[in-house]
Amino acid sequence: MDFEDIETVAVLGAGNMGHGIAEVAALAGYQVQMRDIKEEFVQDGYDNIEWSLNKLAEKDQLTQQEADEALGRVTALVDVEDAVSDADVVIEAVPEKMVIKKDVYTDVEKYAKDDAIFATNTSSLSITELSEVTERPEQFCGMHFFNPPVRMQLVEVISGEYTADETLDTIEELAEAFDKTPVRVRKDSPGFIVNRILVPLMNEACWLVHDDVATIEEVDSTTKFDIGLPMGSFELSDQVGNDVGLHVLEYMHEMLGDAYEPCPLLERKVDSEELGKKTGKGFYDYDDGGADIPT
Ligand code: 3HC
Repeated sequence: MDFEDIETVAVLGAGNMGHGIAEVAALAGYQVQMRDIKEEFVQDGYDNIEWSLNKLAEKDQLTQQEADEALGRVTALVDVEDAVSDADVVIEAVPEKMVIKKDVYTDVEKYAKDDAIFATNTSSLSITELSEVTERPEQFCGMHFFNPPVRMQLVEVISGEYTADETLDTIEELAEAFDKTPVRVRKDSPGFIVNRILVPLMNEACWLVHDDVATIEEVDSTTKFDIGLPMGSFELSDQVGNDVGLHVLEYMHEMLGDAYEPCPLLERKVDSEELGKKTGKGFYDYDDGGADIPT
């Protein structure tokens, strides 16, 4: 598939990342088929895109007409065949479990066009292993966005063992058309570049609190105001989803060893479904105003 021939992008999964990627693609002028497994999930994703586009329009980052036109390019679907049969690129952003992703690709392979490219938004899982369940491993790569996709500039474009250079070139051009900055990750390695650095940082912040060295607010104050990251470690964990961070860590722990052992504090947050902003409560309570970090 050449970049110039891309008109329709299917996005599988309408959660935090899926709806954000669909929004970015629609803003870039592509027809977007956003699919999730239940009507309510896909409707939530659509409503979130609408909220975000209106917010951007309110802040004069685009006109209301541009926001409405972008929303008009998004079709919300539940049927996989309807979602992927016309798509030139399929971007998958379903939950971060190897078995779920493999099932999705087995299904998608039945209906997708032969020349369509499959790009996975996985945060850490093996691109090569995922590509092996398809009949097009050379047309398969990682396309990893960051949360929130509409605000974050970077996209990691990751090569699997069998990915053709033409596939990586096309997906990099697509990322640029999405007004993003692609960085090519040459080796398929757990966590790629960004999560290999960021997720241990969020985990280490948990160990500091777990070991009673500092409070959540003290750690966040340090990460934000002294180290200079845009968010505190716990704010960031709540932003990406504590469950997402834990899945990445568990995989890195399994593949890379004990340095990546998840902290029990993070595990407890996930067990009690305090997943962050998306559930209204994580390390901070968002119904109660969110983080209040001392400067
Ligand atoms: N669409 C539109 N508006 C949005 C939005 C969205 N998706 N998300 C937040 N906003 C709005 C907020 O509602 C708020 O609006 P308000 O001012 O009316 O209350 C406003 O944006 C906040 O924006 P500001 O520019 O004032 O705030 P910041 O300067 O703090 O920028 C940020 C926000 C860009 C998110 C910044 O804090 C940041 O860069 N944070 C770090 C995020 C990050 O590192 N993400 C990567 C995580 S790793 C990852 O995702 C990988 C995965 O695999 C785990």
